[in-house]
Amino acid sequence: MSSYRVAVFASGEGTNFQSLVDAAARGELGGASIELLICDKPAAPAVARAEKAGIACHTFRPKEYASREDYERELVALLKQKSIDLIVLAGYMRLLSSVMVDAYAGKIINIHPSLLPAFPGKDAVGQALAYGVKVSGVTVHFVDGGMDTGAIIAQRVVEVHDHATTDTLSAAIQSVERQLYPEVVGRLAQGKIHLDGRKVVSLL
Ligand code: GAR
Repeated sequence: MSSYRVAVFASGEGTNFQSLVDAAARGELGGASIELLICDKPAAPAVARAEKAGIACHTFRPKEYASREDYERELVALLKQKSIDLIVLAGYMRLLSSVMVDAYAGKIINIHPSLLPAFPGKDAVGQALAYGVKVSGVTVHFVDGGMDTGAIIAQRVVEVHDHATTDTLSAAIQSVERQLYPEVVGRLAQGKIHLDGRKVVSLL
């Protein structure tokens, strides 16, 4: 059994999931292995990517459960059964309840397309454009019970050009995401990232 086992949660395209799968295949994920994709939208392109890569995939429909806690209890059981060490949220468009956050405290990370704490929540790229910022970027952070509020692990700046559109800025941000997320997961797998209160310390 691989020593550092990762589950990815996605809801949509799954380009970040793909970048992690590709990095693992190249041996560039710090020895981590992508063991599972969890998806709340059975028709999402991310699911097809998992099938193509031969990675186990669990889909579910939140509406079929009485509450978020109910489906998360099921997910936690699956994650425990698969001995998952790290949960990587990659375009998973749902808040986690305390069922998941408490079961995997300090072991859940998220990627967000802005420089947090600016523009949390949905449509971060649209929010940044509407505000008129000159730089935005990408944040990878630990997940707590709030909306994009957990301790920040890494950030990268992306310039916002004068004639940027949602499409052009999203593309620029996503190309940075595809570099940064595998780097962070690799460093976590190697034990080089530590959480000290709200501060994240990254070892050389
Ligand atoms: C990514 O840009 C990610 O930062 C964003 O969704 C996109 C998913 O793309 N996440 C959020 O906005 C979370 N609040 P992907 O499915 O192709 O990886």
